[in-house]
Amino acid sequence: MTVTKDRARETQTKSRTKSQTIGSQTSAGRASGALRILVVHGPNLNLLGKREPELYGSQTLADIDADLTAAAKELCVEVESVQSNHEGELIDRIQEAMGHADGILINPGGFTHSSIALRDALVATGLPVVEIHLSNVYARESFRRLSYVSPIAIGVISGLGAQGYRFGLEALVKRLNG
Ligand code: DQA
Repeated sequence: MTVTKDRARETQTKSRTKSQTIGSQTSAGRASGALRILVVHGPNLNLLGKREPELYGSQTLADIDADLTAAAKELCVEVESVQSNHEGELIDRIQEAMGHADGILINPGGFTHSSIALRDALVATGLPVVEIHLSNVYARESFRRLSYVSPIAIGVISGLGAQGYRFGLEALVKRLNG
């Protein structure tokens, strides 16, 4: 699993590898006081930049994470990002967000259309979820029109490319700040 995160914590697992601290937004029960957003990138998104660029753009996952980190700084929140090609790893990481994160921004990739278990994990956290897709899934194959995540998300951004992540983060933070 590839992970970038904003702050080293005692609770971190061996799969979390990189950290930095951002911001000072007030959040109950949080030592740093900042809202914390878990960013989840699903399968094959590690290939961004090389993978079907006509659909998914030329930006790499590192570019997207760097942009989210910059956006988080402006918003005075912390973001932690995780990517995995493995459903169980993603579920483990989402479960770990309970009690640690305030919201989840997720591009579930192909698991969008197949994983009830991923959806169940998101619901179990009780956290607000924003679903992101780089491509417009409604303008593609019919099987991409079914998302197990959309019905439990507070919102969905699809088809706006990499900038959709930033929009999603802004919307999530706005919702959390009431
Ligand atoms: C995707 C859309 C999914 O249908 C696809 O399986 C992906 C990427 C997107 O960002 O557009 O892997 O989530």
